[in-house]
Amino acid sequence: MIPFDSLIQLERNSSVALFVQLANQLIGLIKQGHLAVGTPLPSSRVLAETLGVHRKTIVAAYDELIMQGWVETIPKKGTFVAFDIPQLQGAGKRMKTSVKVSTTPNFDWCSDPRLMPFEVKAHLKYHIDDGVSDSRWSPNAQLGKLYRQVLLDPTLPDLMGYGDPKGNQYLREVLVGYLNETRGLDISTKNILITRGSQMGIHLSAKILVGPGDVVVVGETNYSAADISFEKAGATLMRVPVDENGLDTKTLEELLKGNKIRAVYLTPHHHHPTTVTLNARRRMQLLNLAQRYRFAIMEDDYDYDFHYDHAPILPLASHDSQGNVLYMGSVCKTVAPVFRVGYFIGPEQVIEEAARVRRYIDRQGDAVLEHAFARFIAQGHLEGHIRKVSREYKLRRDLGYALLKKEVGDYFDFDLPKGGMAFWAVLKAPYQWSTIAPKLEKLGLGIGDWMRYDRAQKGHGGIRIGFASKNPEEFAGMVRLLKQGFN
Ligand SMILES: Cc1ncc(COP(=O)(O)O)c(C=O)c1O
Repeated sequence: MIPFDSLIQLERNSSVALFVQLANQLIGLIKQGHLAVGTPLPSSRVLAETLGVHRKTIVAAYDELIMQGWVETIPKKGTFVAFDIPQLQGAGKRMKTSVKVSTTPNFDWCSDPRLMPFEVKAHLKYHIDDGVSDSRWSPNAQLGKLYRQVLLDPTLPDLMGYGDPKGNQYLREVLVGYLNETRGLDISTKNILITRGSQMGIHLSAKILVGPGDVVVVGETNYSAADISFEKAGATLMRVPVDENGLDTKTLEELLKGNKIRAVYLTPHHHHPTTVTLNARRRMQLLNLAQRYRFAIMEDDYDYDFHYDHAPILPLASHDSQGNVLYMGSVCKTVAPVFRVGYFIGPEQVIEEAARVRRYIDRQGDAVLEHAFARFIAQGHLEGHIRKVSREYKLRRDLGYALLKKEVGDYFDFDLPKGGMAFWAVLKAPYQWSTIAPKLEKLGLGIGDWMRYDRAQKGHGGIRIGFASKNPEEFAGMVRLLKQGFN
């Protein structure tokens, strides 16, 4: 006799109905082999008495099991565990109704060691970030109001369905106007795809441009997530030095003479990670080379909005008449990283292809959020927000620079960046991150994966120290811990 009263535990206070609990536990017993194929189940009256529940609960559970095919009824004989259920491997061991997902897969798969894990060390007091906004200044009330308005707008029913992988049409229209005005572009909605951030633009360009063995040129050193996206797509990376005037176009020209180069990726406004601006002469040289050698320029303009000592420098895309530049940016640095709204701009045919590629991984963006951002931009709030936070970030940059010079100037070389949200601080000899970083972590200061700034293993010891996200007290607290790491 099967001891149902000890095998089945019903939870009367649970939000799951008793009959569903019972059905699931009976399924568990069948899967575990406690109830073998063809085993007769007790009558509903007997089981109701055994378990102390109403008979209707048992009948409902049996009905559920019959419907799912776990048990079957034979007229005048009773209810039996279905006769054609195969035994699961591992059955017979004591298992719960639900099974834990195994840590290791039971199939062959590829884990790529180049892909960086996302780690949060919440126990640390401060983290050195590589330049992000202060999300406390995110205009959430405004955005929340607009999001709600859009969600409840009876004239916008189509937003809720499957839409264009190129993104919300209204945001595309608004961005065309905004980018033409602020960046000197001359684009139409055919040239723009809304992404979930600059990183998606990088990923899409890698997918479209790069096949196994194709050469992509990047700076030495470069934004590591871009490096990895291109390598993941099969690219061979060639690195070109970056000096105080940005990517060295002379070296690039030499490389072009001996190699077929598919694309050059760069962040000309403020090179990531070193923060320098590509000067005008090199900009023109780069565009000329791209025309002559027919390669794509992937222009990542992730921090266009933040420049403190000069007017914004118009992107390469604003000088591109021949269709060489793919231009990408987002609001993720400007407003807050959580708002996954960006844009990918290029020749119409590339945008069409990018939309097809995007469709198979993301289908579409969040049309409600995109429409809300369109209203946010069209009503002038984005520009107002940029004006406000730029003022504050400039103050933070100046205070941060002075404090770093005073407190840790003996350990780092760094300049005052003209824009962006981070310092590029290079550890002086003989200090090494491999010994300093663990010490800092013990003190409560995380610097993340510092090796990502030196994927070519040149041993330069540079990291980015973000200044925008921390108020002066927080920055001072961070610097205090940083200094202690050298004592
Ligand atoms: C150079 C660069 N490009 C792209 C990105 C990705 O930005 P988004 O959040 O817009 O995807 C970052 C983020 O840190 C970045 O530093």
